[in-house]
Parts: sequence; structure tokens; C-alpha cells
Amino acid sequence: MQPKTINILGIETSCDETAAAVVANGREVKSSIIASQTKLHEKYGGIVPEIASRAHIEKIYPVIAEAMAQAGVNKDDIDAIAVANQPGLTIALVVGVTAAKTLAFAWEKPLIAINHLHAHLQSAMLAEGDLQLPAVALIVSGGHTCLYECKSPLELELLGSTIDDAAGEAFDKVANILKLSYPGGPSIERIARNGNPNAIKFPRSMLGRDSLDFSFSGIKTAVLYHCHGQDMKGQNKVGSMTGQQIADIAASFQAAVIDVLVKKTQRAAKKIGARTILLGGGVAANSTLRDALQKMCDSGSPPRKLLVAPKPYCTDNAVMVASLAYHKFKAGLFADFSLEPKATG
Ligand code: KG4
Ligand code: ZN
Repeated sequence: MQPKTINILGIETSCDETAAAVVANGREVKSSIIASQTKLHEKYGGIVPEIASRAHIEKIYPVIAEAMAQAGVNKDDIDAIAVANQPGLTIALVVGVTAAKTLAFAWEKPLIAINHLHAHLQSAMLAEGDLQLPAVALIVSGGHTCLYECKSPLELELLGSTIDDAAGEAFDKVANILKLSYPGGPSIERIARNGNPNAIKFPRSMLGRDSLDFSFSGIKTAVLYHCHGQDMKGQNKVGSMTGQQIADIAASFQAAVIDVLVKKTQRAAKKIGARTILLGGGVAANSTLRDALQKMCDSGSPPRKLLVAPKPYCTDNAVMVASLAYHKFKAGLFADFSLEPKATG
């Protein structure tokens, strides 16, 4: 007899994407709907929590209905409802958590709580049937930069994280300084293609020989000084810079961030004897980072395998939530209706 297919409805509202997806057996993506709020936040150059929350409230049920329709399923086909309840903006998370609890109650389905960062890591495993452990996972997003030791999809040990800005946040802030469009990561990547990554030697903060933590505020400040003068009293030179000068700054900044990310990941991999490197989170969409990590993995002795989240599942989505929830479903790890959103995690 064929084992029963487990269909999980995943819900994601931790930041500025309202997303829902139906995934079968943790791997087979039956639908993925994402309502992006980029246009709403663009003019502020960053995410405004109240605007994010209001937009989630408007979109959450239409997005869920569309995910169910696209998957061709109804409530009787769904085995569990999973929701990212931490970390993120509390007033954004609460919308997804409330919707998930409401549907779980009304449809009489089990509820599964998902850590958004662990879900980002899961998206790197989507395509892989045979995960070689131990693995080091680098999660680089707008809110977080973390290195984990991954012992199984459900057993993750934090090895290091940022002590100030997240990598994606640094991309967004530097794009703001350079007057590039929001969100900053894709803009910097685009313009950096025409720039010289060695034009300016921006600092690489390694935080000591053994540290697996990150710090990106120094690089961001160095870009600011480069554009406004050391004492910040100089004129903002960005307006009078040539396209080439801006491209050189973007490429040099990107190279500095990637250098640190790759070296720290290599450090962590050596420390735990990793056979595999996993890469996920919004910044994982960056091709230069993907290529640099691939090079690091290929040149290791022995070489390590790199598993990267497919590009559509790097930035926030609900496929990663439903996919990780499958492992919790199998392990019987369910939440109850006291589930609350949590900013940290
Ligand atoms: O994972 P994500 O969608 O949201 C959070 O959980 O934070 O990540 C969004 C971040 C933003 O900071 C965005 O600028 C960055 O990912 N990002 C990129 C690229 N695409 C998105 N950073 C660098 N290069 C990219 N191509
Ligand atoms: Zn995220």
C-alpha cells in the first residue's frame, strides 16, 4: 500500500511578504503564493511595521484561498496547518498566527509552530534527498545573519550570529546611501556587475581569530564616510558621482561582505568537520555569494557539498514553512491554541 501523502498548508507573515503554500511530504510544492509589500515600503527606504501588519490583515485570507486553489485541494486534503511564529515583527507575525489558529480550530487540524530562520535553512534542503551530515548552515536575511550546525532538519545549534546589522540590512542601508532603489540587495548586486570589487578596500570585521559572530555596521559606516567625508561634515558626494564610481562602491562593498561571510562559514565548517554547507535567506539570492561559497566548497580538502536554496525560495515564502513542518508532523511536534508570536528566536 502507498503511504498516505501528507499535505501541509504553510503560512508566513513575519516581515513584509504575506505568503501561503501547500507542500506534499515536505518536498512536492503544490502551490506557493506570495503577496509582496515592496511597493508599500519603498518610499520609506525600509519596512514600516504598522503598514506591514495592515497589509497582512488585508491579504492573508485571499492569499491562503489562492494557495489552496492553485494546489487544487480543499480543507479535507490538508493534514496540518503550519505557521512561522518567530522571529520577526510581532505585529506582523500575529496576523499569520491568528489565521493559522483560526483555520486549525475551524477545520479541526493540528497546528505546527515554525521558526522562520530554521525554515530558511530548510529551503536549502528542498532539492536534496540525501543530506550528508554534519552540515554548516549560513542564513543571511534582512533581519538575521546566523551560522548553525545542522544535525538534522530539527536539530540546529547556533554557532554564531551578528552582533549588530544583518547582512541584508547592510545591503539595504548601503543602497540607501547610494540612492539605489529598495530593496537594496538586488539593486547593489545589479549595479556591482559593472564595478571593480577591488576599487576601495572596505574593512572586513572578523571579530577575533575564533569568532563565528558577524559585524557589518563598520562596513556600512565606511561606505557612509566614503560618500560624506570622514567627519560627516563633507558634502554628500553621491549626487555628483559618476555611474562607474557608484558601481565601484557597490562592488567593493559587496565583495567585503561576501569575503566575511565566506571566511566565517569556512571557519565554522572546519570547526565541526562539515561535509555539507547549506545557504538560505534573502541574501542567498546573490549570485556572487553563491559562486564564492561554491568556490570555497570545491577547494576544501576534502571538497564539501554546497546546497543553496532555489532562488524563488531564498526570500520569504511559505514553502519553507510547510516543508519544515513536515518533519515536525512526523515527529509529532504540534502546538496548541496558546501559540503566540515572538519577536526573537
Ligand atoms: O529573507 P528575507 O526575504 O527577509 C528576512 O527574513 O529578512 O531577506 C530580505 C533581504 C533584504 O535585506 C534584501 O535586500 C536581501 O534579502 N536580498 C539580497 C538579494 N536579494 C534580496 N541581498 C543581496 N543580493 C540579492 N540579490
Ligand atoms: Zn526571512
